[in-house]
Amino acid sequence: MPASPYLVPGFYDDALAKGRHRDIVGGRWDETGRAQMAILRDAGLLPHHQLLDIGCGALRLGHMAVQYLDPGHYRGTDASLALMRRGRDLELANESRLPLDHLVEDADFSLPGIPDTIDFAIAFGVFTHLPAAMLRPALTSVRARLRHLDTLLLTVFLAPPGHAGAHRQPDGVVTHPDRPPYHRTAAEVEADAAATGFTLSWQAVQLPRGQVLCHLKPA
Ligand SMILES: C[S@@+](CC[C@H](N)C(=O)[O-])C[C@H]1O[C@@H](n2cnc3c(N)ncnc32)[C@H](O)[C@@H]1O
Repeated sequence: MPASPYLVPGFYDDALAKGRHRDIVGGRWDETGRAQMAILRDAGLLPHHQLLDIGCGALRLGHMAVQYLDPGHYRGTDASLALMRRGRDLELANESRLPLDHLVEDADFSLPGIPDTIDFAIAFGVFTHLPAAMLRPALTSVRARLRHLDTLLLTVFLAPPGHAGAHRQPDGVVTHPDRPPYHRTAAEVEADAAATGFTLSWQAVQLPRGQVLCHLKPA
């Protein structure tokens, strides 16, 4: 099995050819978009802020955030440019509010061309599908590149310390230490944050599929 479902050869092309851009990001379209808007607004996001949506997919958050933010204040990155563009073509109420070059293909979280004026960033349901070792380099990149960042909102699946094997999350999703969807211990995520120059705080909010939210602020 590949380390991530998104690494299966032809995955994006096949699903897009079938018109399944919403399914690629996990469905539950309105509920999950609304949940992301709510956690961003709770974190202090206002229309004049600049938002980066890391692993933004088909704009499940983006179709709401683009309407909320001032025009041009939303940017997204994803491993698949075609997926982001499908979202822009089909899901936006007004695509002129999102310049095409604000959607950037980026599979290694190096954030090419993303300006350092970003205030808030979110990676929702992204590292839940990627091996643990990918988080630390990504946080290093965010810390180095986004010099004016207020808060990064990050979701993970957690398992208790010492837990071995599969773990059932609160709403039934079964996660794993070594294959997707992945879980970590809280201490492991905290160590990644500390090593990359962030202060982490866990947030008591219920999210779809039992993901857990943390805020990372530059230390
Ligand atoms: C579960 S979806 C979540 C998408 C979006 N954050 C949302 O909530 O709708 C995971 C997203 O991560 C993207 N992804 C997977 N591997 C990636 C990588 N290495 N770099 C950037 N994005 C990646 C996928 O293309 C997909 O859009």
